[in-house]
Amino acid sequence: MKVIYTDKSQIIASRVAENIGAPLGEVKLSRFPDNELYIRAADLDDRTVIVSSLPDAESIVELLLLIDACEGSEVALVIPYMAYARQDKRFNAGEPISIRAIAAALSRGVERIITVNIHEPEVLKYFSVPAENISIAPAIGEYLAGTGIEDPLILAPDDGAWAFAKGVAAAQGWDCNYLNKTRHSGFEVSIEEKEVGVLGRNVIIVDDIISTGGTLATAAKMLAAEGAESISAACVHGVFSGGGYARLMAAGFRCVASSDTIERGCSLISAAPAIAEALRR
Ligand code: R5P
Repeated sequence: MKVIYTDKSQIIASRVAENIGAPLGEVKLSRFPDNELYIRAADLDDRTVIVSSLPDAESIVELLLLIDACEGSEVALVIPYMAYARQDKRFNAGEPISIRAIAAALSRGVERIITVNIHEPEVLKYFSVPAENISIAPAIGEYLAGTGIEDPLILAPDDGAWAFAKGVAAAQGWDCNYLNKTRHSGFEVSIEEKEVGVLGRNVIIVDDIISTGGTLATAAKMLAAEGAESISAACVHGVFSGGGYARLMAAGFRCVASSDTIERGCSLISAAPAIAEALRR
């Protein structure tokens, strides 16, 4: 068995390979004169693990080509960050169910799929092969326990992230609560006033995704006004679109950490051990 990867997932793929004790295969990537991608995965084995986050549209094309290149090998596809997962409904007439379109395309030619903290696990039904979603909430809790942040209060920004926040807090025995967020647009959210006992506390807001940072910056403003001692953040998928990371720093966050599902300078937690465990099942 070999582990191969798309270009933006080389680090997490290497860690997965190390964790399952399989070699990394070589993937050659170049471009045709018209800028189309050329891919070659030479020397494949009978079984292949493809590790491919999808932080942008080009990664989706690259992954589709890579799956096709693996014809004849039994493929387990790991998608640490699944793009388009948040458009999981037709909110207005004429819109696609984006995750359905992408999931259908990615299911052809693979035996099984593993995702990591996909925004809404219900969408796994759109893959036409067996699909499993794993959570790295315990790994995030373990990382935070080593940061020296004393007796933190773990907060989810909305009830959708409440189960995830409980997963972060549980093994460490930390207090945990959630806020009530309303999303007005892709860029605008508001958070309802809520008494969650933050006075003098080291608060850590945890979420599956940080995209623009708008959710966390809005929450931080309210928590600071309520007397929080410090505010930090941790997420699985650090998208940080449009200056999202800088926005959080400017909002006074003590630290912001993400996992390596999207490879960033603040990717301080690895999803690889949990992925390896799922692959062994
Ligand atoms: C949505 O419900 C997700 O869990 C995140 O809260 C959201 O994607 C964060 O987006 P942003 O950072 O743009 O506020």
